[in-house]
Amino acid sequence: MISIKSDREIELMKIAGKVNYLTHLEVAKHLKVGITTKELNDIAHKFILQNDCKPSFLGYEGYPASICISINDEVVHGIPGRRKIKNGDVVSIDIGVEYKGYHSDSANTYIVGTAPKEVKDLVENTKKSLYEGLSAIKSGAKISDIGSKIESFANKCNLGVVRELVGHGVGTSVHEDPDVPNYYTKDSRVLKEGMVIAVEPMLNLGTRHIYMEEDEWTIKTEDGLPSAHFEHTVLVTKDGYVILTGE
Ligand code: MF3
Ligand code: CO
Repeated sequence: MISIKSDREIELMKIAGKVNYLTHLEVAKHLKVGITTKELNDIAHKFILQNDCKPSFLGYEGYPASICISINDEVVHGIPGRRKIKNGDVVSIDIGVEYKGYHSDSANTYIVGTAPKEVKDLVENTKKSLYEGLSAIKSGAKISDIGSKIESFANKCNLGVVRELVGHGVGTSVHEDPDVPNYYTKDSRVLKEGMVIAVEPMLNLGTRHIYMEEDEWTIKTEDGLPSAHFEHTVLVTKDGYVILTGE
């Protein structure tokens, strides 16, 4: 069942989204060569608590940290630790924030220092693919239009679309109905005003295929080439959408 949020719920989700966005800014400020991913995690954790919110991911299905940090060939769900950021790293930061029982979910990918043009293009085009997908959103549009747009844009850029992980509804849980895949499906359900969904393309420079690390969280590309991930939580409106995890 896809929930329709009340005005009150939307107000709470806007706050969860705003704090999520501000946490991203705070982490980005400290993202430099030499800092460890655990230090970045702790900066996010503290900032979220200071803003009367909770980190949604901590303890989610046993996840052991407050945010996910996935570097280079890591696609998503990298666990922060002692690893230091290096020049040229492609760093995806994924943050979930809960305010009074309501969640927001958002991811950004950064290049630290210098990287080859094809890697810069990967990151830029993954971000563009998110906005391509979002452009399909309005009341009455098919949920599957989002994935079709992302997939065709990724194909044009010759990037691999990860299929095993998908976007999702967001509300009293980080993951709610519906699934929002980043590729074409036959799902004929339509979006309605008041739905809140997270759209989150994960695009790979090489193969779309992935595997899970021994830590049972970190997802990596099969060929070792880099991957990028961008995600916003958005509210569906009559004519379009409002990004809850932006400015
Ligand atoms: N942000 C992830 C998503 O978009 C969820 C991370 S769940 C965690 O679906 F357990 F890894 F934290
Ligand atoms: Co998500």
